[in-house]
Amino acid sequence: MKRKVTKAIFPVAGLGTRFLPATKSIPKEIMTLVDRPLIQYAIDEARAAGIKDFIFVTSRGKSALEDYFDHAPDLEAALRKADKTDLLEILRDTNMDSGAIAYIRQHKALGLGHAVSCARKLIGDEPFAVILPDDVIAAEKPCLQQMIEAYQETGGAMVATMEVAPEQTASYGVLDVARWDGRIVSVKGMVEKPTLGTAPSNLAVIGRYILTPRVLQNANQIGKGTGGEFQLTDAIAHEITQGRDVFGYRFEGQRFDCGSKAGFLQATVAFALAREDLGDEFARYLAQMHGHGQAAQ
Ligand code: UTP
Repeated sequence: MKRKVTKAIFPVAGLGTRFLPATKSIPKEIMTLVDRPLIQYAIDEARAAGIKDFIFVTSRGKSALEDYFDHAPDLEAALRKADKTDLLEILRDTNMDSGAIAYIRQHKALGLGHAVSCARKLIGDEPFAVILPDDVIAAEKPCLQQMIEAYQETGGAMVATMEVAPEQTASYGVLDVARWDGRIVSVKGMVEKPTLGTAPSNLAVIGRYILTPRVLQNANQIGKGTGGEFQLTDAIAHEITQGRDVFGYRFEGQRFDCGSKAGFLQATVAFALAREDLGDEFARYLAQMHGHGQAAQ
């Protein structure tokens, strides 16, 4: 029996430079797909997978993110008075129980490996999940839940993975595959952002992980990697060199790279089209625009 995964780390201390100037004062994770901040999707996914403890690794200028999870008694009272029960319900979904959420500061953006290792004292001796909120995954069964179920079979360390076009591998951590077994891939190596033409496969690491505390020790021990940052990929790959198991999990679902402008816009369109209250109107608008585009050609 593998141990249950009840803790998740949300590293949100990056600079978010690709969304400047907005991210000068707005944390990237608060930016909204239609009307829900990216972080809400990540929290909902974690809750659905049975996560009980939510650990945020934050940095300067992220106070709006911390405020987002506070209860809003005045707003709730106003909505109650106006009998807006549907809005009250939406608001309640954003509340976190006191004690369920912890904030740790990463004082310098030294890389994802460093950010995750900042939370090591809160993790103790248990396996834990890591969720990057800028990877939003639309799936019938939430991605982390798929992974936790698979992890009960495999143990070891597990990363979410998906195929990307060969020319995109240079933007990702990439898996060196030993064996495929359906959705589970045994990994014999991992490379962070391989230079074009050197990627060992086109299976890219996506922002969901199930890790053991040993990976946090690795992150502390090994030095800087690609881009002069402490890379989480290197800390996980170190497990393989120590003879321990690492797996990729080819999740079912559609992933949007909301850390990039193009991915964020694609997610906005997809989530708007999927909304019962907006989808039809928005689809008509897009069809109209498409018609205009074709006429102009
Ligand atoms: P990104 O590579 O997307 O970096 O980080 P970023 O700073 O958020 O954005 P850009 O590239 O400047 O636009 C991936 C995830 O790792 C976290 C980020 O907050 C994001 O969730 N991260 C990255 C940290 O928490 N600390 C770091 O030092 C680096």
